[in-house]
Amino acid sequence: MASITENTTSESEQMTGDEIVELCRRHTLFEWSAQAAVDPIPVARAKGIYFWTPEGKRFIDFNSQLMCVNIGHGDERVVRAIQEQAAVLPYANPFMATEVRARLSVKLAEITPGDIDAFFFTNGGAEANENAIRIARMFSGRHKIGARYRSYHGGTAGALTLTGDPRRWAAEPGIPGVFRIPDFYHGIQKGSDTTEEALARTEEILELEGAKTVAAIIVEPVVGTNGILIPPDGYMQGLRALCDKYGILLIADEVMAGFGRTGKWFSVDHWKVVPDLISMAKGLTSAYVQLGAVGMRRHIADHFEKNVFYGGLTYNSHPLACAAALATIAVYEEDSLIENARRMGELMRGLLDDLQSRHPSVGATRSIGLFGIVELVRNRETREPMAPFNGSSPEMQALGKFFRAEGLYTFVRWNTFFTNPPLCITEAELREAFAIIDRGLESTDRAVS
Ligand SMILES: Cc1ncc(COP(=O)(O)O)c(C=O)c1O
Repeated sequence: MASITENTTSESEQMTGDEIVELCRRHTLFEWSAQAAVDPIPVARAKGIYFWTPEGKRFIDFNSQLMCVNIGHGDERVVRAIQEQAAVLPYANPFMATEVRARLSVKLAEITPGDIDAFFFTNGGAEANENAIRIARMFSGRHKIGARYRSYHGGTAGALTLTGDPRRWAAEPGIPGVFRIPDFYHGIQKGSDTTEEALARTEEILELEGAKTVAAIIVEPVVGTNGILIPPDGYMQGLRALCDKYGILLIADEVMAGFGRTGKWFSVDHWKVVPDLISMAKGLTSAYVQLGAVGMRRHIADHFEKNVFYGGLTYNSHPLACAAALATIAVYEEDSLIENARRMGELMRGLLDDLQSRHPSVGATRSIGLFGIVELVRNRETREPMAPFNGSSPEMQALGKFFRAEGLYTFVRWNTFFTNPPLCITEAELREAFAIIDRGLESTDRAVS
């Protein structure tokens, strides 16, 4: 086969990092990037908050990979659960009922908010959202869905239309029926609306769209990749009240913010809001096996007693994934990881404040639990961002290179970088990571006028 190169090591030998990168770059596409621009880190193994290249360079995983390995890497309890399930029943089709599916659904009913107690399992977050909006449409008989600009809901057709950030652009025109509701945050220079302003503008849009045509509003209760945007007090409750007033379903996309990331099982729990539908993935299995789910309140599940649920996936309720999820949830509980996210989150809050007080390039920091971000600016007064919207700058690129050289892995995006470690992180590990960040910011400080 022409694609297998002569200089490739034989299968019995381990490849070097360079060989892995070269072949992956040549024969696979990397996400959301012009391929010439990608420079992936070769990764061979991982444990706890660390991962290693084949040559043994160690990285602190300060983004839990894609904000998903919440329990940390290589937890043997989860690995064993997957192995045991694989030995007994690696797959059953989704028309069958399995014990692991039964146990997981009971457990999820216990930890999800309010009377959410029925679940449809998917392969990931995008499919969870696709099914959430389809369920909302089937249940309500209405078709429009409101979503915000500063959001990401997944890479499939419907989920990308819901997505407001630039990843949507290439997928347009997208699916019909999606409209925008207002964001409460408008970037580092413009800041945030009050709860009252954001809700009043949302209600105006609902009236203009025709509230009776709106099936659902979907939000990330705490926005993830678009900036760790924590809603002002009363916003989530106000959105719930608006939905109730107009008979609109509220969908909480908890794919990134769920499973302890914010210091609660789900981020909506901070505001004691019960959404009608909740989508989840990532931390559900800590990404040991791919799994997503959409959970629904009892009256919505009841609707499908007599009405056909039009939805299906070959890997729905995959036993290996269900086993991974059950074992992962047990780890959150056994190791009190949600409590740890709260405690370490308080420490991280202090460390972020400290960075802001000492580094002129730090324009803002936001965090809730172990979900954090730093926004960099060129000027503290004008608050001009260190890189433009949807762009980069030499300073941000240099910062990313510094983190990489120093063995700190995290997302550097536009004028921001993220602080999202696994929830098992210790105080010493958190301080170790912040010491690297502290040194890195010396270079961005030099760009401040
Ligand atoms: C909030 C949110 N929703 C949905 C998704 C899509 O999940 P997946 O990539 O598993 O399809 C993501 C992924 O980052 C996400 O952050």
